[in-house]
Amino acid sequence: MRIIEYITFDDVVIVPRKAPVDPQYVVLESNITRNHRIRVPILSSPMDTVTEQDLAIEIARLGGVGVIHRNMSISEQANMIQSVKSASPDFKHLFDTISINELDKSYLQSDKPLIITSNSSPIGAYIPAKSLSPALVEKIDLVLRLLRTGHVKPSLDNNGRLLVGAAISPFDIRRAEALEKAGADFLVTDVAHLHNVEALSALKKLAEKISIDIVAGNIGTKEAVLDILSKVESISGLRVGISSGSICSTGVVAGASVPTLTAVMNAREALEELGLFGRIPIIADGGIRGPGEAAKAIVAGASAVMSGRLFAGTDEAPSLLVRIGDKLYKTYRGMASAGAMKRRHAADRYSRPSKQLEEGVEGLVPYEGPLVKVMSRMFFGLQASLGYAGASRIEEAWNGVLARVSSLGAKEINPHDLVK
Ligand code: IMP
Repeated sequence: MRIIEYITFDDVVIVPRKAPVDPQYVVLESNITRNHRIRVPILSSPMDTVTEQDLAIEIARLGGVGVIHRNMSISEQANMIQSVKSASPDFKHLFDTISINELDKSYLQSDKPLIITSNSSPIGAYIPAKSLSPALVEKIDLVLRLLRTGHVKPSLDNNGRLLVGAAISPFDIRRAEALEKAGADFLVTDVAHLHNVEALSALKKLAEKISIDIVAGNIGTKEAVLDILSKVESISGLRVGISSGSICSTGVVAGASVPTLTAVMNAREALEELGLFGRIPIIADGGIRGPGEAAKAIVAGASAVMSGRLFAGTDEAPSLLVRIGDKLYKTYRGMASAGAMKRRHAADRYSRPSKQLEEGVEGLVPYEGPLVKVMSRMFFGLQASLGYAGASRIEEAWNGVLARVSSLGAKEINPHDLVK
């Protein structure tokens, strides 16, 4: 038997190449499906401690997009989609915007902060001294910093409403139809191992009934991509990575895995063979700890990354806030953990548990504050990484180069030899 080799994020580094522009001019816009483009290439995972309406609204306002989880009844999920579609796409609830030419003393008596713009770009803010908590002032500062880059704008549909995705099972046509009717922009299949004869024939039937974009996943091999696209030609995106998630125990309990970086490389190879690379976006899902992993996935061929771990600790995530000693945490759990599976069955008695096996764990992650904090870190970090990769936009980063480092090298990359 031949043993093949799989590469993970820590095995490689981005080879620095001549940067065509300064990092602040790097544009991070990218496609997440054949028909939808977002401003910052990040999706939040459909998980019941991560993406419900609050997070989906805020992440789309900040240029990413959320995928609402399916661990609830069809009507609850459809209502959440409708809430996102009817939410204001800007930050009007936080502050008003006023052009510098219109600035008048009477406005400064308002209790609401004012963002001052010149030629529609934010140039400063007026924050009234009274009645704002320090946390809100910090949030406003962070939002402003992002908006001031000029690159971060909300991810919108053609009617100017926030973009949103929804998770489905390929076996649940009723749910898929209800979500399409509720206004979801795209659907994401939420299956640990989509490359399965029954799941594929169910997906084929579902795709015939649905006209919005469908992202298929999770898959990890070249064969899976070729097989899926030969059966369901209309697939509009690929969600790749098996068992790299921070709450995932599949690799241990089932012994199976395709690490996210390898899954991206495999999907790219298949799409290149079909002449579809760059037309069907690859979404790298699982194991993204920060902009470094996201950038490596993009250089390998991904159009965007998906993460649960990055967002579970934020204010907008529907997880519980827990205090231990003087530290704050939020709960985070895999969708195949015991607790999540119990909720799914309670919420939807038609859900089809295909295995009697827990493939996920439950735990705590540090509390992070508002989502904009995490999105800022990702945005500025990705701009810098793409600069190193020699790219001024995502599609150019695909020409970047990754180099394998030894395990000693991987150790050296981390801060070291400090006393504290
Ligand atoms: P993370 O951001 O590294 O925590 O990975 C999140 C990803 O893990 C999700 O987008 C799913 O693809 C995957 N995932 C979610 N729940 C489970 C689970 O219970 N077992 C295995 N993988 C999971």
